Amino acid sequence: MADIRNTFAGIKSPNPFWLASAPPTDKAYNVERAFKAGWGGVVWKTLGEAGPPLVNVNGPRYGAVWGGDRRLLGLNNIELITDRDLHVNLREIKQVKKDWPDRALVVSIMVPCEEAAWKKILPLVEETGADGIELNFGCPHGMSERGMGSAVGQVPEYIEMVTRWCKASTRMPVIVKLTPNITDIRFPARAAQAGGADAVSLINTVSSITSVNLDNFSPEPSIDGKGSHGGYCGPAVKPIALNMVAEIARDAETQGLPISGIGGITTWRDAAEFLALGSGNVQVCTAAMTYGFKIVSEMIEGLENWMDAQGHANLDDVIGRAVPNVTDWQYLNLNYVTKARINQEMCISCGRCHIACEDTSHQAITQEVDGQRRFEVIEEECVGCNLCVNVCPVDNCITMEQLAAGQTDLRTGEKVSGDYANWTEHPNNPSRVAAE
Ligand SMILES: Cc1cc2nc3c(=O)[nH]c(=O)nc-3n(C[C@H](O)[C@H](O)[C@H](O)COP(=O)(O)O)c2cc1C
Ligand code: SF4
Ligand code: SF4
Repeated sequence: MADIRNTFAGIKSPNPFWLASAPPTDKAYNVERAFKAGWGGVVWKTLGEAGPPLVNVNGPRYGAVWGGDRRLLGLNNIELITDRDLHVNLREIKQVKKDWPDRALVVSIMVPCEEAAWKKILPLVEETGADGIELNFGCPHGMSERGMGSAVGQVPEYIEMVTRWCKASTRMPVIVKLTPNITDIRFPARAAQAGGADAVSLINTVSSITSVNLDNFSPEPSIDGKGSHGGYCGPAVKPIALNMVAEIARDAETQGLPISGIGGITTWRDAAEFLALGSGNVQVCTAAMTYGFKIVSEMIEGLENWMDAQGHANLDDVIGRAVPNVTDWQYLNLNYVTKARINQEMCISCGRCHIACEDTSHQAITQEVDGQRRFEVIEEECVGCNLCVNVCPVDNCITMEQLAAGQTDLRTGEKVSGDYANWTEHPNNPSRVAAE
């Protein structure tokens, strides 16, 4: 059986599945239930300064986007950091860590951008015996207007400065949680590294408005007729998160910086993809909020089974394996030629592929052959874009087939070359450097 024990930024856990800082990790009751269900670690819901606890809205906090089957695809929230008393949280963290020594317990923190505020809270957290801290530079709503969360995460100089303060004031590993609400994720990651961070985690939520009520024209979730932007998460943000993780993993300047991958992870396969793109472990929020803590057993079992089937003995065999295959567009092989193929046995004649290709692609799929309703690829027109694959409701009914070297591409009339050739050396590229 594959060994999925994990060490992330020096923090050990029995598996790479941690719960992200959010409602599932807001108190001992939840965290204990999570550990009983098998989660390898948690990042405790973000703590703020001592003093009167934060106040959340008393109306709805969530907006959502669903698929046609009402499956939750995206969740938006306007919740703030913890609204429980700091000292109650600290007491619970200490007890939970004592009771569950083999699980990772990291504490998320967000205090004002002043050194004194960080210096004050760090010893209190350290005293609990927690394994590490995560700096919440990601929250895009409520706290950012108070100069915290993504207000810090959007300014690399502030990230570096606060990370440095924390590294100087604690022995605990420092994980810097990044906001995706930024143009180029490499800059905050580099800043975290420059400040001495032991790791980065990403993504926090994406600034968003999920919908507008067209009766009263209020953005949702509506609080007495008004709405405010919130933070978007869940399966819908996974592609954004994967790209950002990959950008950091393949950046020469942050090479080797551990990454905790977060964003839309719902299944073992999602987790494996994050690991392959360079995440040292993963964190989950929305999936636990949608399906409950027990989903972790499917994640663990699925990951182990896949690793066994592939012959991966431990997580090091998987982590970062896809990173060398992430490249820039100009290096993609222009001699890789594919054509769509429709399996007529599986086709239900819905016509989606035809209309998509006819109206918006390359007029390469029939809807009638010899007077009969029939969908066939016209190879002379097919550019191999795979739009039809993505709109077809039947899994695997349309597949893309590669033309072998030497075969003729009926669209161009040219023989397919077996050589690799990319845009940098293409004759149409105006900035091509002449080979001679
Ligand atoms: C209701 C809610 C509250 C959250 N609160 C926090 C928080 O206090 N601190 C934090 O760092 N992230 C917070 N997050 C963000 C999550 O930790 C996570 O980064 C994000 O939801 C993406 O992961 P997911 O797609 O698995 O949900 C919150 C998310 C949700 C849905
Ligand atoms: S791959 Fe693109 S061009 Fe070819 S049939 Fe499908 S949609 Fe049309
Ligand atoms: S979309 Fe798929 S099922 Fe529908 S007609 Fe095209 S090939 Fe057949």
